[in-house]
Amino acid sequence: MEDAKTVWHRLAGHTDELEWRPNGMMLAEVGGRKVTLAMHGGSVHAFAHLCPHASGVMADGWIDALGNVVCPLHKYRFELERGRNVSGEGYRLKTFPVRQDAEGLYIGFIQSF
Ligand code: FES
Repeated sequence: MEDAKTVWHRLAGHTDELEWRPNGMMLAEVGGRKVTLAMHGGSVHAFAHLCPHASGVMADGWIDALGNVVCPLHKYRFELERGRNVSGEGYRLKTFPVRQDAEGLYIGFIQSF
């Protein structure tokens, strides 16, 4: 039987230490991977660097009025929280858990054993 464990990687002490772009997003290197971060509604969300459709750079996109991230290439839309493709093309954006506490900001990677 397979088990899964979240391995947390500390990214910063506080979100103010990060260099956010005017679109509220940024590209970060975490645990050897490129991850897109988005600040929305006071919370940080983490998801894949590249769009699952045709590898658009997600950090170059934007957050729409409903709080979905929009890929800059073909404008497919994805839920920030779970990566569901709300514009209906059938893709899923890989998302990562985020933990924010007094110790800092952490991004989690799920590892299977
Ligand atoms: S590459 Fe993102 S919508 Fe096509």
